[in-house]
This record gives sequence, structure tokens and C-alpha cells, in this order.
Amino acid sequence: MRIAVAGATGNIGARTVTALEQAGHEAVRISRSLGVDLMTGDGLDAALTGVEAVVDTTSTEATDRDQAVAYLGTTTRNLLAAEERAGVRHHVLLTIVGVDRVEGNAHYAGKREQERLVAAGPVPWTIVPATQFHDFAATVTGWTEQDGVATIPPLLVQPIAPADVAGILAEIATGPPQGRHRDVAGPETQDLVDMARRTNDARGHTVKLVPTWSSVLGPEMAGDVLLPGDDARIAPTTFDEWLAQPR
Ligand SMILES: NC(=O)c1ccc[n+]([C@@H]2O[C@H](COP(=O)([O-])OP(=O)(O)OC[C@H]3O[C@@H](n4cnc5c(N)ncnc54)[C@H](OP(=O)(O)O)[C@@H]3O)[C@@H](O)[C@H]2O)c1
Repeated sequence: MRIAVAGATGNIGARTVTALEQAGHEAVRISRSLGVDLMTGDGLDAALTGVEAVVDTTSTEATDRDQAVAYLGTTTRNLLAAEERAGVRHHVLLTIVGVDRVEGNAHYAGKREQERLVAAGPVPWTIVPATQFHDFAATVTGWTEQDGVATIPPLLVQPIAPADVAGILAEIATGPPQGRHRDVAGPETQDLVDMARRTNDARGHTVKLVPTWSSVLGPEMAGDVLLPGDDARIAPTTFDEWLAQPR
């Protein structure tokens, strides 16, 4: 099959391209650095020629709610319209477990807008909610790290390996549209502060971690809100196995 991956240079997108190609499919790479921009539509119609399915793994760094909703809304509208013109038969959206349970987070508001547009859109779809990735603790400390100090909220998560997410997306994209997919998660619950400490130890990175609910992610993310549903699809790679992998 010819399948386009939007966000093909990103953490999950690049691995999804690899998974599709390893399974014998043709992957069309979409990202701004590769000359295709979902905000402007530049290069999009040409990229989708002959494409049967699209996996959207794009993201935004917007931390303002209106900007996140506008960015992910516009890119999703442009992508779906181009897919309709090209006769694409399946749109697969990667989203986050629990976006409906966390009201105030700007990125989550953008993801809800993406989900709304995809579910109401013209292309048959599968929405795939995944838990936080194994590298999420490093991502979060990277937001604030300065002079050897970083803040981190003590989130309860059930993280998943990026390669496992990519493999599941590749499998779903080559099958029929499923509507809302069950949650996709890793095998074990973890505390994000502990994940950050173990990530830094494994990488030989020295940083003082300051646990707090008063930084980027707040107390509305406390408790079980980020955990997957009871019927979740559990991917195999543990956090420790992922930490031990060469990078
Ligand atoms: N981090 C987590 O723990 C987690 C958990 C569950 C779900 N998710 C979701 O997973 C998705 C992927 O995350 P990620 O970490 O893989 O993202 P990422 O590494 O930041 O990659 C984002 C990709 O989107 C592309 N992109 C951004 N704007 C674009 C545009 N206007 N046109 C074309 N391409 C564009 C980027 O390439 P260019 O810069 O070249 O355009 C890049 O390839 C996100 O939507 C996120 O919400 C994340």
C-alpha cells in the first residue's frame, strides 16, 4: 500500500515510516522540512497522489490554548480536505489518552479539536489514543532545565515505547477504518519523577529535579486521569528495556 505519514521527521512519524517500509509498504513522508506544509497546504496535493491511507503524527509546540487549537485545527482541516480530493480511504490520527479528562492544558485542547474534526470529517477514520511515551520525562524536564535544575510533576503514567506506538499505527493504517480505537499503553505504571531520575542516570546527565504541580503541567493531571482504560491494548516494551536500548 502507499501510505502517507504526516510528521514523518518526528519522534513517532519517523518510526512509523520505518515500520511501514519494513512491512513492505510505500511510505510518503510529509513534514515542513521535507517541503510539505499542512498549515499552508504547500506540496500537499502532490504528496497525496495515489495515497490510500494517511497517518497524522504531527504536533505543535504552542503553549497558548488558542494557538494550539488554531494550529492543530488548521493543519487537520487542510489535511482532510486534501485527502478528500485525493480519494484517500483511511485517516489515522494519533492522540493522547485522557484528553477529555484534562480541561486546562493547551496541547490537549488542540488534540480535542483534531479529534472533533477527524470524527466529523469526510474521510473514514481511526483515532488512536496513546499514553505518554517512554521519553516523556526527558521531554518535560527539557522544558524547564536551566543551570542544572529542572521542574517535574509527579504524574502517574503508563508509558509506551515510541517504536511500539509506531508499529501499532502502521498496522492500523494498513487495515480498515475502526472509528475510536481502544487506548494504547505500555505494560507498567510509572511515576514521572522516578522516570526522569532513571532517564538521567542512564544517560549520565546530572540535573537536580524539583517535583512540583506549579510548573507547566498542573494538579488537574494528578490521580488516574492519564491512565489507560481497562480494555487497553498493552504494548510489550517496558521502560527499563527501552532505557537499556542504544540511542
Ligand atoms: N509525547 C507524548 O508522550 C505523547 C503521547 C501520546 C500522544 N502524543 C501525540 O503524538 C503526536 C506526535 O508526537 P511526536 O513527539 O512524535 O512529535 P514531534 O517529534 O514533535 O514531531 C512533530 C512532526 O510534525 C511535523 N510538523 C509540524 N508542523 C507541521 C506542518 N505544519 N506541516 C507538516 N508537518 C508538520 C514536524 O516536522 P517539521 O518540523 O519538519 O514540519 C515533525 O515531523 C503529537 O500529536 C502528540 O500530541 C504524544
